[in-house]
Amino acid sequence: MSKPDILQIGTYPAWDESALNELFTVHRYFEINDKVAFLAKHGSTIQGIATRGELGADADLINALPALKIISVYGVGFDAVDLDAAKANGVHVTNTPDVLTKDVADFGVAMMLAMSRSMVKGEDWIRSGQWVNKGLFPLASRVHGKRVGILGLGRIGYEVAKRLDGFDMDIAYSDVSAKDYASQWTFTESAVELAQKSDFLFVTLAASAKTRHIVNLDVLNALGSEGMVINISRASNIDEEALLSALESGALGAAALDVFEGEPAINPRFLALDNVLLQPHQASGTVETRKAMGQLVRDNLSAYFNGQDLLTPVL
Ligand code: 8YV
Repeated sequence: MSKPDILQIGTYPAWDESALNELFTVHRYFEINDKVAFLAKHGSTIQGIATRGELGADADLINALPALKIISVYGVGFDAVDLDAAKANGVHVTNTPDVLTKDVADFGVAMMLAMSRSMVKGEDWIRSGQWVNKGLFPLASRVHGKRVGILGLGRIGYEVAKRLDGFDMDIAYSDVSAKDYASQWTFTESAVELAQKSDFLFVTLAASAKTRHIVNLDVLNALGSEGMVINISRASNIDEEALLSALESGALGAAALDVFEGEPAINPRFLALDNVLLQPHQASGTVETRKAMGQLVRDNLSAYFNGQDLLTPVL
């Protein structure tokens, strides 16, 4: 039996590349220089897309593939897939929820701790010889016992809150409605109110057109000059221009960020700041989780082509 033709939008770890190639005829879109010519010649043979969370698939691409049946996303976030175009073309969409939840939560908490306790600067203090030359390292800021707000108490937000309970933090959250599984934490109606109640604000909500810039200047001002925002969701959930201005002026104390507009080419204004912790979109980046994500990407594709139910359907 001939293998279905799949368009691969970005790189995967080597073990996923080889496993994908065994199952499908894979076209490596990211290596094709003349994409227009490729789509004109081969577009009608492509039945599946394998993409990553931050790369997705836009309407132009979906519309250029008349035989497309399924888009399998390596990531829980599917905001970069044009769902309207997929729906209009009868294309299924799958993602990789659950398998990455705990790693992303771990990473968010690690960013909060690392930033609050100045761990990156502490290491630099040693490496640059300042420990020897200047002596004691400047004091940092305590985490335990402080107030934390979780914006979006879905799977990842819930795991963050569970972990922070262990730090004796005062936990509040905001979501479209109060959650019956979160009676131990304080529900708060709006993002601004949540920020007013928080020393640390975690942004953990799934991104969509509705949540775009939900963290705006008002929210950042409410968090204040001693506050810290931690973003492990998508850059679009924060007004990045407002964030940069607030960090530059000191209206906001600090930010720990794993996601950026236009990543990986981030706004250079971030590089001039010393009240930020910058991470290369790696919250789900452990070998264990990425292997599980790759497996789920393939299992969803195989399920479709074998006429079985999709494992983790979005559409
Ligand atoms: C990326 C993510 O997919 O789960 C998501 O939504 O953004 C990530 O897991 C991952 O970085 C691979 O590119």
